[in-house]
Amino acid sequence: MKFLGIDVGTGGSRAVVIDENGKICAAATAEHAAFASPEIGWAEQSPDDWWRACRAAIGEVLRTVAADEIGAVGFSGQMHGSVFLDEHDEVLHPALLWCDQRTGKQCAEITDKIGAERLIELVSNPAITGFTLPKLLWLRENRPEIWTRVKTVLLPKDYIRLRLSGDRASDVADSSGTLYFDVQNRRWSDAMLDSFGIDRSLMPEVFESVEPTGKVSAAGAAATGLCEGTLVVAGAGDNAAGAIGMGIVAPGTVSATIGTSGVLFAVTDQPRIDLKGRIHTLCHAIPGRWHNTGVTQGAGLSLKWFRENFGAGRSYDELTDAAARIASGSDGALWLPYLMGERTPHLDARARAAFVGLTASHTKAHLVRAVLEGVAFSLRDSLEIFKELGAGIASIRLGGGGAKSPLWRQIQADVYGQAVETIEADEGAAFGAAILAGVGAGAWNSVDEACRATIRVAERVEPQPASVAELNRNYAAYKLLYAALKPAMNILNGEI
Ligand code: XUL
Repeated sequence: MKFLGIDVGTGGSRAVVIDENGKICAAATAEHAAFASPEIGWAEQSPDDWWRACRAAIGEVLRTVAADEIGAVGFSGQMHGSVFLDEHDEVLHPALLWCDQRTGKQCAEITDKIGAERLIELVSNPAITGFTLPKLLWLRENRPEIWTRVKTVLLPKDYIRLRLSGDRASDVADSSGTLYFDVQNRRWSDAMLDSFGIDRSLMPEVFESVEPTGKVSAAGAAATGLCEGTLVVAGAGDNAAGAIGMGIVAPGTVSATIGTSGVLFAVTDQPRIDLKGRIHTLCHAIPGRWHNTGVTQGAGLSLKWFRENFGAGRSYDELTDAAARIASGSDGALWLPYLMGERTPHLDARARAAFVGLTASHTKAHLVRAVLEGVAFSLRDSLEIFKELGAGIASIRLGGGGAKSPLWRQIQADVYGQAVETIEADEGAAFGAAILAGVGAGAWNSVDEACRATIRVAERVEPQPASVAELNRNYAAYKLLYAALKPAMNILNGEI
């Protein structure tokens, strides 16, 4: 039997078909239209465009794999977004995305009304602009004529499920990022919904990520080429599905994924809550497990930004090859990667990036190395919080573009002070979604068993003691810099 995973990302939708050994039988991506930003900080996409891209990606994999070979479909998707539907399931407004920043006022209202500590007790997370509840409050306040017609609110991938199977359903991992989900008890938070006068009937039914939610409908089959009646499994938000795809399932296992943003993800066997709200606490896509995530907003973005502005046309490999010839610690040059503000640990949307510690001896290659080290320092900030909360860190697996560079792999091992591993098929969240589909269809008894059958370690990189010592010294300096520079940043931001 084969399993189809569909990841409804931000840039595009990806379809991956795997077999029971984890072999990739077919994979295809279809781009989305870039998100619209009608005002500064706004980010909107059309759910119908996601459906178009999903149909295209599914159509492409079905050129290689016959539809009747597919035993089940599972989902992954960009988290936190809001799809507003009327009584006929028509989209009423473009979806507000995870990176939309318009809801500062609503977040302050949520925190004031519930209280910062009570909020963390109820939903395990603080009110931040990316999450879903403030988006609902924004629509109600600013587009009341639309809000009165809203009959269903769905997360992005769950809209694709609705189109494919006709079911209104979600999963515990993705729903954890709404701020109206009781993460500890894995169900909608009536306390939050009631406090804000939001009717529970707007919300879909919630399932564990491995549970079937329905079957491909006749309309879904006609639109995609999949067989009517193919099992549809709940799936998960992209961070949890991505972790499954890397085999990050056992408590104590951690992944560090460097894409545009960087995500440190740790599995726990109980909800481990940060009362300061610096990291997220969410359900994992495995019954009885949770996870913490820390987010570096400008991870891969730091290197991309540097290359585009100062790379003089050189490739990533040329830049990192030059940086590999510089000694660990970049001769004291440090990079603070706050190009897009920062989530963990500062929760400061207006933080600014900085190079610090430069001398006339520093070269471009030093700066590239400093960028790679600075991003790893920022991810270490999350790791330190995980440790502070008592998480035992058994192993760290690397993913995303950052795992493809040998230098960045070594830097991460040295900065984390722990061995890091890469896996053979770094196929991300769509691969995880396909695994969840297979577990839902009964091909494996559990996600753990599925990961053992499908995921293989490619390389293990040990930390080098001399570099660890050098980078520990730099990290000590790095940790002082956000607070030291904050007053200056306030002036630059026009706040003083
Ligand atoms: C998670 C988050 C992002 C989106 C992007 O908290 O905001 O990872 O899910 O896809």
